Amino acid sequence: MSSKDSVSRTLVVAFFLCVVCSILVSGTAVVLKPMQDENRVLDRNKNILSAAGLYDAKSTANSEVAELFSRFTPRLVDIKAGRFLEAEEIAELGIDIASYDQRKVVTDPALSEALSSAEDLADVKRRALYQMVYLVQDEAGDLETIVLPVSGYGLWGILYGFMALEGDANTVKGLSFYELKETPGLGAEVRNPRWQALWPGKKVFTASGDVGLTVVKGAGGGDYEVDGLSGATLTSRGVANLVQYWLGESAFGPLLKQLATESRVATR
Ligand SMILES: Cc1cc2nc3c(=O)[nH]c(=O)nc-3n(C[C@H](O)[C@H](O)[C@H](O)COP(=O)(O)O)c2cc1C
Repeated sequence: MSSKDSVSRTLVVAFFLCVVCSILVSGTAVVLKPMQDENRVLDRNKNILSAAGLYDAKSTANSEVAELFSRFTPRLVDIKAGRFLEAEEIAELGIDIASYDQRKVVTDPALSEALSSAEDLADVKRRALYQMVYLVQDEAGDLETIVLPVSGYGLWGILYGFMALEGDANTVKGLSFYELKETPGLGAEVRNPRWQALWPGKKVFTASGDVGLTVVKGAGGGDYEVDGLSGATLTSRGVANLVQYWLGESAFGPLLKQLATESRVATR
């Protein structure tokens, strides 16, 4: 065996090849990170707009998203108190609203809490104590749209999305999902525009103040019922549960009822 083919030489070449490749891979990851973060924000904003009925994948250009989204004001909600946090309270909590991510803080015991199985209708296990919602207000400060983050277990995992309501805090503008593990063609049909078109105009609260909005297979099209997806009863049930939980008394219900009586929201 010539010295060029020796085992030690092969190992040295393999080692340096590994080092060069790992530098290339980690370098690429670092270089691409800002672009990925930007795309993540763009995707989230598109989904917020989509829930509010302002985004159509076929006709809205990426360049229009920032302009459309500029009308939305992010506000943090203290979910247990059922009210918006003021800027000073947010500062006291050490939260930077621009980078706050309620999905990331769900593992932080200071900023999130575990849900008991009786409470946890959406089967999410934990929730952030402070939830980011997005408001559109007219010039007088009257609420035109409120977009709420929603999440809940389907068949294969948690579905994450947004529910938009009109200024009465009771009429649905739309529901969109931006992340899910459901099966394409079955549970993932929750993202099908035809199914999403069944939501606008539905009502949330019954006269007695309960969440009446639900998903029912074969629904006749009343004020509160959305037809379930055929072949995806389990995902449809997950969506019904997450609606029941996030719009209900232990989540956004108290805030929404407050907004329904007094739709003018003080700006920060
Ligand atoms: C490979 C596979 C993937 C499935 N994915 C889903 C799904 O994502 N969501 C869902 O609700 N049901 C899914 N199902 C079907 C469920 O097991 C169940 O049959 C269905 O929810 C019942 O709906 P139906 O009463 O409308 O027929 C899947 C089934 C199989 C075999």
